[in-house]
Amino acid sequence: MTRLLHLDASPRPGRAGTHDHGSHTRRLTQHFVSHWRTLEPDVEIVYRDIGANPPQLTSVEWIEAAFTPIERLTEPMRAVLAESDALVNEVERADILVLGVPMYNFGPPAAFKAWIDNIVRIGRTVDFDLDYGAHPFMPLGQYVPLLADRKRHAVLLSSRGGYDFDPGRSMAAFNHLEPSVRTALQFIGIGDFHDIAIEHQEEGGKALAASTESALARIDRLVERLLSEATARRQLQPA
Ligand SMILES: Cc1cc2nc3c(=O)[nH]c(=O)nc-3n(C[C@H](O)[C@H](O)[C@H](O)COP(=O)(O)O)c2cc1C
Repeated sequence: MTRLLHLDASPRPGRAGTHDHGSHTRRLTQHFVSHWRTLEPDVEIVYRDIGANPPQLTSVEWIEAAFTPIERLTEPMRAVLAESDALVNEVERADILVLGVPMYNFGPPAAFKAWIDNIVRIGRTVDFDLDYGAHPFMPLGQYVPLLADRKRHAVLLSSRGGYDFDPGRSMAAFNHLEPSVRTALQFIGIGDFHDIAIEHQEEGGKALAASTESALARIDRLVERLLSEATARRQLQPA
């Protein structure tokens, strides 16, 4: 059984194609998980809506607690870290993170950055060890990506008002969304990264419709590929 973490970061509650002024990224994540469920009915799906409920921002209390060794944590420190712990647990448990993240001002919305800041946790998802050397995910030595203990995938499903933000296109240098998310997740050990985005939301009409159709079709193919890889891996594991 595959374990998906389905996360939405758009503050718009409805889904494009279903609700007026609905979110395109919510449409994409919903499409991904429902196609997966059709092919693997007993898939486990945990849902986290950070668009509706943004995670806490880092504060001085959070930093003090996060950098205190577990055995020295006080009760108030544990309380400050409780939400972060819950978010980390969800990531740790998942095989595939399905992340719906709009492009806001050329990067992720603040709620999503807050989620990243809560899941990149020293001692929980990444460690620092002077004797460690370098991991293939991290050219800089001494950082230990703790979630590299097994294969996990991240699927970033995005939407952009403009267009041509993909690698090699004219606006690629303005795109700080996919590259920043990929780097942060790789840093903690999630090295398999896939991204699909809708463009032309601002223009609408045929350009948006064509981009949406293309994104939905690419999601179908990605789901089928990831599921067949996961099935093959499970068959190789001893009973
Ligand atoms: C605050 C804000 C900032 C945005 N910044 C950008 C941007 O930098 N580049 C872009 O192409 N579109 C930008 N957009 C358009 C969104 O990426 C687009 O509306 C997208 O569909 C939003 O995702 P959603 O439909 O899931 O809510 C912005 C929209 C908002 C509300």
